[in-house]
Amino acid sequence: MFTINHINNELPKSLQYIELEKSLIALLGEERQFLPNMANMASLLFFSLKNINWCGFYLMNLGELVLGPFQGKPACVRISVGKGVCGTSAQRLESLIVQDVDKFPGHIACDVDSRSEIVIPLMKNNELIGVLDIDSPMLACFNEDDRQGLERLVSILLECSDC
Ligand code: SME
Repeated sequence: MFTINHINNELPKSLQYIELEKSLIALLGEERQFLPNMANMASLLFFSLKNINWCGFYLMNLGELVLGPFQGKPACVRISVGKGVCGTSAQRLESLIVQDVDKFPGHIACDVDSRSEIVIPLMKNNELIGVLDIDSPMLACFNEDDRQGLERLVSILLECSDC
């Protein structure tokens, strides 16, 4: 059985992400199936990061983003590329940090509690296969340390999975 190591949320975020990298590698183990690996990563992040209310994946399917494994309240199932924070990140092929979702034109509100958001694209062999989306009920919850840390975690997920 895997137990999530408690992350000391008082540590600088960059150090918290180093701990999370070790936890993710241990959690994925030898498993290479993408779906359970995404599900476990969403759970690891949801129960480790402070001040988040939604964490999960949207996967590219027939040209649009479709809801994948997540933790949090039920969410919208389909997002067009170019729409919302997720679709904009997917279109630009870059991570997006939104400090105040009410100021992001076209933000798609799935959970009314969400105030800030970060989205990381999942790129495999130079192709977009989906995005990781994390919401916070706090304004400006995410910064450059989160972007770098989450991009590293996403690259571990992709390297460790057949996708
Ligand atoms: N807020 C996102 C939609 C997904 S939910 O936050 C889970 C967006 O604007 O793309």
